[in-house]
Amino acid sequence: MCGIFAYIGRKNNASELVLLGLKLMEYRGYDSWGVASKMQTIRKTSDKRKNENKSQFEVEKHVGKIGDAILSRKLKYTSNLSIGHTRWATHGGVLEKNAHPHLDCSKNIAVVHNGIIENYVELKELLLRKGHQFTSETDTEIIPHLIEENLKTKGFATSVRDTFNQLKGMNAVVVAYSLSSEIVAAKNGSPLVVGKSSDGFMIASDTAGIIKYTNEVLFIKDDEMVILGKNITLLTLPDGKKITPHFTKVNWKIEDTSLGKYQHYMLKEIYEQPKVIRNIAENYTQQIHTLGQIIKKSKGTFFIGAGSAAYACLSGTYLFSKIARLHVNMAFASEFNYLEDFLNSKSLIIALSQSGETIDIVEPLTRAKSKKSKIVAIVNVLGSTLYRMADYKLLLGAGPEKAVASTKAYVAKLAVLYSLSFSMIGETDKAKGDLLTVAHEIERILEPKFAKEIEKIAKFLKNAIHIYTIGRGASYPTALEAAMKIKEVSYVHTEGLSGGELKHGPLALISKGSPCIVFAPNDETYDAIISNATEIKSRGGVIIGISPFNNSVFDYWLEVKNLGEASIIAQIVPIQLLAYHMALLKKLDPDKPRNLAKSVTVK
Ligand code: AGP
Repeated sequence: MCGIFAYIGRKNNASELVLLGLKLMEYRGYDSWGVASKMQTIRKTSDKRKNENKSQFEVEKHVGKIGDAILSRKLKYTSNLSIGHTRWATHGGVLEKNAHPHLDCSKNIAVVHNGIIENYVELKELLLRKGHQFTSETDTEIIPHLIEENLKTKGFATSVRDTFNQLKGMNAVVVAYSLSSEIVAAKNGSPLVVGKSSDGFMIASDTAGIIKYTNEVLFIKDDEMVILGKNITLLTLPDGKKITPHFTKVNWKIEDTSLGKYQHYMLKEIYEQPKVIRNIAENYTQQIHTLGQIIKKSKGTFFIGAGSAAYACLSGTYLFSKIARLHVNMAFASEFNYLEDFLNSKSLIIALSQSGETIDIVEPLTRAKSKKSKIVAIVNVLGSTLYRMADYKLLLGAGPEKAVASTKAYVAKLAVLYSLSFSMIGETDKAKGDLLTVAHEIERILEPKFAKEIEKIAKFLKNAIHIYTIGRGASYPTALEAAMKIKEVSYVHTEGLSGGELKHGPLALISKGSPCIVFAPNDETYDAIISNATEIKSRGGVIIGISPFNNSVFDYWLEVKNLGEASIIAQIVPIQLLAYHMALLKKLDPDKPRNLAKSVTVK
């Protein structure tokens, strides 16, 4: 939910390094941002030998997106220790004073934080009684002052460890200390990854912030603490036992995380979808087969996810039923907390998640593990919390997805589930051929002439107050995902519905001019969904058909060729483009929608 980046090393432009690192992870939070850097001051005395060498943190904070920000003069000076943060507000409004980093009274300690400190009120009262001054409304600000208190009797690293052990809740804390030029970080929730370069160390919320400097990374596990200075020390929490740090080489390239020729990441990632699907078609046979074997051994399989990932899970239940003739369950991760009492050692939970950090999944899976259930993670981020929790891991290989609105990761999940369902019946080659056809069809949809029709419909929809999307069968989850894309980036209220549910209430909402997007693939749902479209049209609705065929009930038609059960992968692409263009017409930032962040790591 927030972006963290810190640097300690031999380079003297630490402030710039931190600012750039934060920009590379801007999608993690964009309410406000701040950077604190160690500033060396020499307090001169008459006797030069008694000059006082002071080093404190200088802080710069701003409300708003870090986007094209530049540092003010006061942080332009040379420094080799800097720490920064982009914030998604939890405690305290979106105000400059609440932006991180937060300092202690001496300005020798700077802290950034991701998570929620559940016992911060009682800790703050204790500190106020000890005379500490606070300037923000945040829970985070108690951390530097607690460390300051501990430093009166202990060393820096021990002070951070003992402070962290006092915090209740799931948190990632990064602390910089100007007097020893060290960074200490500890976590029991929210991601932290260390990068090792030739000139020093950096620590960030995810690999995307680090990959520009190094591809040698260490994923910090929950209940671990790391000390970065001239060297690196890794310890377990709460006891502080030393363990060996194991660095991993990630094979991301920097161009994977840059905009390139595109205006927005959302558009770039939409256009990357054919490549992502081809990669899954060509290179996932063995992994998919292994996962299929795991499913066959389980007694009760659950797909769980949040948001778009949940809709991919729901699509999976239809694919497994139609293709593999298997019943699998689906649950919204946040609801799975209340649905998992029956879990046992034979249960299998398959978590789908782009970030691999979604707290709604991490929490129930932690309990599921305690019941010895088998965990599978289908995620896009190597080393993420879910990736590390799982007994079996499958990386989507979609490359960094930076737009908050998920597109390529969503279709990658569908492609994996499509292959998996055919793998269960030994027809892997058919799935491969179908996915290659899907990639080709998406390339056709992405051609300029298709965009003209999309822009026309976007103009029609951009001022709508309510939009409806309907589908049946495997297209029902597609209707839900379509609604998510439109509302998430254009802020137009959009309701996704099963066509069969219309007459059970929602039809009352339809009036003259009500726009409705109808998914009508060439399958057993076609006639019924066209009837639903006709019912809407007869009440004044305006119909936008997504279908291989045009139909007299359609006022607008966007052709998506008949791809059999694989149609559900291609038919979301026109709506991704539609949502994107609606956002542009409304002068919104499609990459960073208001109130949202790329990874929901706090409840
Ligand atoms: C999708 O466009 C949204 N950004 C959101 O629903 C997202 O899919 C959800 O938060 C789950 O994220 P994850 O895949 O990283 O777990």
